[in-house]
Amino acid sequence: MRPEPEVISSSNKILIVYLSRTNNTKTIAEIIQSNVGGTLVALELQKPYPENYQATVRQVAEENGSGYLPPLKTRIDSIQNYDVVFVGFPTWGMQLPPPMKSFLKQYDLSGKIVIPFNTNGGYGIGSSFQTVKELCTNSNVLEGFTMRGGSERDGVLLAIKDEKKREAEGKVKEWLRSINELKRLIK
Ligand SMILES: Cc1cc2nc3c(=O)[nH]c(=O)nc-3n(C[C@H](O)[C@H](O)[C@H](O)COP(=O)(O)O)c2cc1C
Repeated sequence: MRPEPEVISSSNKILIVYLSRTNNTKTIAEIIQSNVGGTLVALELQKPYPENYQATVRQVAEENGSGYLPPLKTRIDSIQNYDVVFVGFPTWGMQLPPPMKSFLKQYDLSGKIVIPFNTNGGYGIGSSFQTVKELCTNSNVLEGFTMRGGSERDGVLLAIKDEKKREAEGKVKEWLRSINELKRLIK
């Protein structure tokens, strides 16, 4: 196991993995990357969710109930080379979405710094950040970021754009600056 970095510096390798259906979480992922650099990876499934929102809600509820872990199409080479892993996801059914559970179960992030970020439809993070901690017991899980994104239920898809995107840029920067371990990295 590689030693945990005390202070992140530009020699540390950063991975930003995110799940996003309607691009709100993707927008936050891109803002993080513009501040700290790193490799951006979208999580994709071998069998994508339906386009229909209600059908997706039903499928996610079943998967959450049974603990099913949908197989990922995305493959990350050399995960051992990364020191810092940002993990981004929407709240789904007040939980961590099944594809992110698949990712955290499939890849060993022991000894790494893990930093969660989230968007949601206005009901908050639910149990998602807690589940990240439970699935990353040997990682240093830092304080996460959350903000309201879209509400597909009400026909609001990408909400973090224009004025709201500028607001997100400010909030993300403030959050990154508040993380001691990251201070030296912020552009
Ligand atoms: C299947 C599904 C379940 C959702 N469940 C919740 C929820 O429990 N609470 C909430 O606040 N928002 C919920 N939402 C809304 C999303 O969290 C919100 O729109 C988020 O910004 C979407 O991020 P994305 O654009 O990156 O996909 C749900 C959306 C979907 C598609």
